[in-house]
Amino acid sequence: MSHRLALLALVVALAGGCSNDWRTDMWYQPSVRPEDAPRPAPEHSVPLWAGRLLADRDDADTLARPSPATAASVAHGMALFAERCAACHGPEGHGGGPVSKFFPPAPDLAYSTIRARSDGFIYGTITFGGRAMPAQAEGLTPRDRWDLVDFVRDVQSRTAGGGK
Ligand code: HEC
Repeated sequence: MSHRLALLALVVALAGGCSNDWRTDMWYQPSVRPEDAPRPAPEHSVPLWAGRLLADRDDADTLARPSPATAASVAHGMALFAERCAACHGPEGHGGGPVSKFFPPAPDLAYSTIRARSDGFIYGTITFGGRAMPAQAEGLTPRDRWDLVDFVRDVQSRTAGGGK
């Protein structure tokens, strides 16, 4: 009997030395928490809603427009422009928006340098921003951004000459 007691005492003594690392709360787990950055897409994955995944503005330079401009796409682009761009680029797209007073001034979209850009580069500028211009992709679908490209082209086609 005393042997058994001694053995039991030994087991209890050893067990006491074991540490227990099991977490009993659910805080530490491999899930994504609110406000964590989203996980990167797995390698070689392709989004269902789009074609090529773009890395930056230059990557978009050779991108072809998905469909030709229509009166409806220009009108939709104009409505989006009033919401998203006019504060910097002015109501007509010729610069002088109120934000340009305390931000690097946004250029007239009819400047010859911007006329000479490819459709893809303008799409890339809207998506990723420029040297000073902040990216505008948030809340705008690719379709919305192409409609904005159509509106920028429309501003240029309605403006003679080209300034800078
Ligand atoms: C916060 C101000 C701001 C907003 C908002 C803004 N832009 Fe700009 N944009 C700029 C500035 C400043 C530049 C010139 C410097 C640069 O490239 O960043 C510019 C440049 C451009 C260019 C010329 C790029 C080039 O180098 O040829 C295009 C085209 C353009 N913006 C279109 C848009 C459109 C379309 C929107 C709305 C979806 C928009 N911008 C919203 C400030 C703005």
